[in-house]
Amino acid sequence: MTEPIENHKNSVKTVVVPAAGLGTRFLPATKRVPKELLPVVDTPGIELIAEEAAQLGASRLAIITAPQKSDVLAHFEAYPELVNTLRERGKLDQLRKVERAEKLIDAVPVKQDQPLGLGHAVGLAEAVLDDDEDVVAVMLPDDIVMPMGVMDEMARLRAEKGGSVLCAFEVPHDEVSNYGVFDVEECGEDTVRKVVGMVEKPDADEAPSNFVATGRYLLDRSIFDALRRITPGKGGELQLTDAIELLIEEGHPVHIVIHDGKRHDLGNPGGFIRACVDFGLDHPEYGPGLKRAIKEMLAERESKKRRG
Ligand code: UTP
Repeated sequence: MTEPIENHKNSVKTVVVPAAGLGTRFLPATKRVPKELLPVVDTPGIELIAEEAAQLGASRLAIITAPQKSDVLAHFEAYPELVNTLRERGKLDQLRKVERAEKLIDAVPVKQDQPLGLGHAVGLAEAVLDDDEDVVAVMLPDDIVMPMGVMDEMARLRAEKGGSVLCAFEVPHDEVSNYGVFDVEECGEDTVRKVVGMVEKPDADEAPSNFVATGRYLLDRSIFDALRRITPGKGGELQLTDAIELLIEEGHPVHIVIHDGKRHDLGNPGGFIRACVDFGLDHPEYGPGLKRAIKEMLAERESKKRRG
């Protein structure tokens, strides 16, 4: 039994984490291991998301999984054999690490039998919501948004303006075609815009702005109704962007918070390596050695280049 909505900070009870994608950009690693379990230093990406969801105030993590990706859920289950062994050996720090995920939040599975798109995945989560939830948060596990806390800002904005609130980053013009791009109007706050339209991965010269969606959404419950009414879009998939666009057309208020922080994309090897280096450099145990090693590797390449 979950607590009633009044007991949840920010009035968010459930965070939906779509994790049923194929992870093709990460093959061959993702042949057997779900990309959400790949470690950033020593912690799987999905646990970083669970930490952010718990900090937002949510008590339930609805993880959308594919039939062959049940290990993602298993990461949030108790593991008594390992716990007992670690306790017997006095390895209490490691024991705390093993138990951390299950203590953070209540993870529940939502099965997506076929990867029919992000919109389809999010739509399936309606089945686990309680009647007292009128908003649902969505966090894409590929996206690490730092520092944590942007969703608190988004919840504050929703309390003020109603409707749905999304997180945006400003990117250089030549990068917009990799993202969902917002068409926006000023609305009196530096870091907030009203959204008047949204386009999935437009050509750079057709993009309405440089503000792009990153994987954090605070969606009014009416999103589920919109998701039932859209048809397959880009790539033949049901797109979350199309459902949001439909809500905007029907006059539902949608705003963005422009986040002035860092973002890591764990969904492809290039972005993942950068995240590992960034987190690794901040790590008290591994940071100093990693910094030295990176300097040495760069110096070695530089001197090889000079020698021709
Ligand atoms: P992506 O298309 O970026 O990720 O989906 P992917 O499919 O896992 O990876 P590639 O492109 O093959 O390398 C964005 C997010 O939506 C989820 C993915 O798991 C990812 O978190 N998703 C996507 C689903 O849960 N179901 C889908 O049908 C599609």
